[in-house]
Amino acid sequence: MPEADVSKKNKDYQANVPQENHGFFLKGSGNYDWGMKNRLSRIFNPKTGRTVMLAVDHGYFQGPTTGLERIDLNIVPLIPDCDALFCTRGILRSVVPADSTKPMVLRASGGPSILKELSDEQIAMDMEDAIRLNAAGIGIQVFIGGEHETRSVHNMTRLVDAGLRYGIPVMAVTAVGKDMVRDARYFQLACRICAELGAQIVKTYYVEEGFEEVTASCPVPIVMAGGKKIAELDALTMAYNAVQGGASGVDMGRNIFQSDAPIAMLTAIHKVVHENMKPPDALALFESLK
Ligand code: R5P
Repeated sequence: MPEADVSKKNKDYQANVPQENHGFFLKGSGNYDWGMKNRLSRIFNPKTGRTVMLAVDHGYFQGPTTGLERIDLNIVPLIPDCDALFCTRGILRSVVPADSTKPMVLRASGGPSILKELSDEQIAMDMEDAIRLNAAGIGIQVFIGGEHETRSVHNMTRLVDAGLRYGIPVMAVTAVGKDMVRDARYFQLACRICAELGAQIVKTYYVEEGFEEVTASCPVPIVMAGGKKIAELDALTMAYNAVQGGASGVDMGRNIFQSDAPIAMLTAIHKVVHENMKPPDALALFESLK
């Protein structure tokens, strides 16, 4: 019948070797389709289950943030040293070289500037454009307890629906209003809501008390947001404590790009996240590379 198969070689079906069923390394992600899993495997290192994502999306609401004045000069050279870049599509198209093979996670919400109520966001990118840009994922702010809580949750669920259609994971970023208490109880609430409503990744802040309960009660991977610039040892310690407390990595910005030596800082964070390097050793590494 198959006349095109003219090889004289005997066929080798290895019938005694059962086909392997592959599990999936990432928390809560075993039931997704192939495309979604493949994109998650680009964002998170399948060997460690963790990521060092570099967040440089700050301009979408606060303009040329310190350290991000010239992304072409200050950030593009850092791209080889991170696992994924979190940026806007404007920056991606205008300054990120298209021959980069790093996974790009694109900011997909926006609207208000720092001059206005920040929770008043809308979806700011079509899923079609994320696909056109070969995004590995997209990110959106969710303002639990904020003035426009319901809309921001609805923005996220609409993107989750679109992402599921095309296999693109959505990272929900738990945004905390200025006057709100940043404690484990709040982050448990915010992270769990995002995961329950379909986010494949949740980005949230580290808290010293009860962070393990935040990660334990969130059924999908949590990545730690960095927050304002602090001393290198403190930032390395925070990243260390977060991954030891169950985070699947970090999505840090200012503590990397506002450091005196961003590549050295990225390298040190990489060791902390992927190799469980202790903070004093990571600081020594940072100092030696700096
Ligand atoms: C979140 O709202 C921002 O857009 C950043 O992605 C996030 O805050 C992480 O950056 P940083 O480590 O500077 O806080």
